[in-house]
Amino acid sequence: MRPTQDPRPLAVVTGASSGIGEKMAVAFARRGFDLVVVARRADRLTALQTLITSTCGVDVECVAADLASRAGLALVQQALADRDVDVLVNNAGAGWIGTFAEAPMERQLEIIDVNCRSLIGLTQAVLPGLLQRRRGRVVQIASVAGFMPGPRSSVYYASKAFVVSHSEALRHELADSGVTVTLVCPGPVATEFQRSSGVRGTMGGAALMSDVAVAEASVEAALAGRFLVVPGFANRLLVALSALLPRRLTAALVDRLQRKRQEAGADDV
Ligand SMILES: NC(=O)c1ccc[n+]([C@@H]2O[C@H](COP(=O)([O-])OP(=O)(O)OC[C@H]3O[C@@H](n4cnc5c(N)ncnc54)[C@H](OP(=O)(O)O)[C@@H]3O)[C@@H](O)[C@H]2O)c1
Repeated sequence: MRPTQDPRPLAVVTGASSGIGEKMAVAFARRGFDLVVVARRADRLTALQTLITSTCGVDVECVAADLASRAGLALVQQALADRDVDVLVNNAGAGWIGTFAEAPMERQLEIIDVNCRSLIGLTQAVLPGLLQRRRGRVVQIASVAGFMPGPRSSVYYASKAFVVSHSEALRHELADSGVTVTLVCPGPVATEFQRSSGVRGTMGGAALMSDVAVAEASVEAALAGRFLVVPGFANRLLVALSALLPRRLTAALVDRLQRKRQEAGADDV
């Protein structure tokens, strides 16, 4: 039993059943954090719990919840209500490729509920505790998509723009509070996300980054209290270019790239 006067810090990671979230959970555990891991697939969370507890010797609580639903969000909020959270990672995310007119409405609303609604609901749930203790990290996993309009994935891109805008404002509001915000904006990463959102290929043929590399960069930045993380030189260039180009031209370029990814996906599924 560990001494009560020296509790381990606690990191909460949503979308920890695969990809970037899973690797971030491992990265925090290796740094001595206890964990609350959240996703729908309970079997994956349990497997992660077994791996982490046996290799890192920290405690892992699994919360199986659908963050697209009000009940699922409430379940996670309840699980965190009596915990002293040190780090919240809002990583769970959903996407879809296809034009707005052809995309299933349920899926579009699910993207908003997971990528935006649950992120706000969890951030606001833990913030009073962080502010009271005058320390803590909020980590929002957005995307380079948050900096540009995204034809053929318009709701996903807009959801990430929401996260970028909200994080920039929250960072300002929290200045000098002891609580930091880290905004992570990866480019294409090799995870299950490609398959679940019907995407193949990358933006302009750039190599997919590994989820481990993105997770490590994100955890390091969060613990150092840095605000913006865009992993990979090509992705930083993309973000810089998108700030310079007219939005209409960027939309046309993204449309071309997304069309290719959509066609590749249709061939592959
Ligand atoms: N991969 C990329 O190219 C890329 C690029 C930029 C940004 N991102 C962002 O990175 C984040 C992580 O994605 P990833 O690439 O690691 O993809 P991933 O491997 O598909 O992971 C997505 C995670 O989100 C969880 N999730 C999805 N819908 C959920 C729901 N309704 N309720 C609870 N959990 C849900 C999934 O768990 P369950 O299915 O078990 O629920 C899974 O753990 C996302 O926010 C994504 O937008 C990804």
